[in-house]
Amino acid sequence: MSRELSPEEISEVMTADRTNVWHHLSQHKGLETNDPQVIVRGEGMRVWDANGKEHLDAVSGAVWTVNVGYGRERIAKAVYDQLVKMNYFAQTAGNVPAAKYAQMLIEKMPGLSRVYYSNSGSEANEKAYKIVRQISHNKHGGKKHKILYRERDYHGTTITALSSTGQFERKAQYGPFTPGFVEVPHCCEYRSQFGDVTDYGVRAAKEIERVILEEGPDTVGAIVLEPITAGGGVITPPEGYWETVQEICKKYEILLHIDEVVCGLGRTGKWFGYQHYGVQPDMVTMAKGVASGYAAISCTVTTEEVFNAFKEDPSDRMSYFRDISTFGGCTAGPVAAIENMKIIEEENLLENVTVVGEYLLERLNGLKDKYEIIGDVRGKGLFAGFEMVKDRVTKEPVDESVAIAIAGDCMKQGVIIGRTNRSFEKYNNTIALSPALIATKDDIDQIVDAIDSAMSRVIQ
Ligand SMILES: Cc1ncc(COP(=O)(O)O)c(C=O)c1O
Repeated sequence: MSRELSPEEISEVMTADRTNVWHHLSQHKGLETNDPQVIVRGEGMRVWDANGKEHLDAVSGAVWTVNVGYGRERIAKAVYDQLVKMNYFAQTAGNVPAAKYAQMLIEKMPGLSRVYYSNSGSEANEKAYKIVRQISHNKHGGKKHKILYRERDYHGTTITALSSTGQFERKAQYGPFTPGFVEVPHCCEYRSQFGDVTDYGVRAAKEIERVILEEGPDTVGAIVLEPITAGGGVITPPEGYWETVQEICKKYEILLHIDEVVCGLGRTGKWFGYQHYGVQPDMVTMAKGVASGYAAISCTVTTEEVFNAFKEDPSDRMSYFRDISTFGGCTAGPVAAIENMKIIEEENLLENVTVVGEYLLERLNGLKDKYEIIGDVRGKGLFAGFEMVKDRVTKEPVDESVAIAIAGDCMKQGVIIGRTNRSFEKYNNTIALSPALIATKDDIDQIVDAIDSAMSRVIQ
């Protein structure tokens, strides 16, 4: 194990981290007696920590972000060249990479035409919500302002993004929430609300219609959905679901906003998750994989029809989108995004995701055959997970400590995997995987073998 830092540097960094950094999603008490994990280098699918330990990263930067893998010099160089030339000017003006990237992106998204830049997934979603609210004021006299969201979906960390999030524990203690957000039931077939039925997808979508009718169609302006629910337990949509959702949106003139923050830019084997299901959204938001974490960037992409609603009446002083994101004017984001997209194209990564993703599901289903505790394996492309249950008949979820123990054991083996992280009262029972789009079958074997070995120890 070669050390990445000298013993003195390690000690300085550990002290500085422990004394002054407040980590995300972390209970810090344990860090008073244990060293924090500090990641110092990455290359391809692998990262090295301060002590020189190598880890195979099966979750692309812990939260499904580094789609093209670590150490891409070409992205770093393009960002450097751009920054020394022109680092920032507010998006009230144009800049070269933002214009070029918008065009490249729109080529991948037939039916959509406008890109609004900001810098996080939560913020991209907030922009979409503001668009809905302003359309409601300008076109519907303040009606059609409600936004539907789905149980188990996550849309971000700000108070309004949390207001549209269907995860009880994730939201707990952060209320009161923004009014005008209404939950619709989840679409996880394994947890069917209707028992064992053959038309689950259509029924789950019709639940959305039921909520619309209860609320009053003239009060509902939009619905926000993940194409495949990510942090809520890797929930792939059941057959017939998306087609029915689209019909319902058309019937009640409800804007369809798809949150591609996780699935976007290749994770599922197509540029966007929704493109598997033949749906046509009115708005799409994206962030994580757009520039694979080489720079902060998010996009809210809309149809020309949505965009036009903000320029129809120039005589009205208030009618345009009076919104700004300061860092939406950073050029590092779009220039990194351009290289990111070129890498995905030149290295045929969508194809790789499809082929290696099928292998990943095959291997996970192999684990299911071996371990009774695995109740359901789900996924699409290099995005997969499995739910663990105490009993396959009752489907009672295992305690979250089981998922924590499996992830902890894998970490000791040098493989970083994901899990549902205190999002639900009951369903913190899913292991999640989202390796970089460059993953090989050998990488998948190493990841799944580590899980297998962890499970053999954790499950007695
Ligand atoms: C589906 C989805 N939407 C939105 C977000 C929020 O993105 P960010 O953390 O960049 O604000 C996330 C983050 O995990 C996400 O998974």
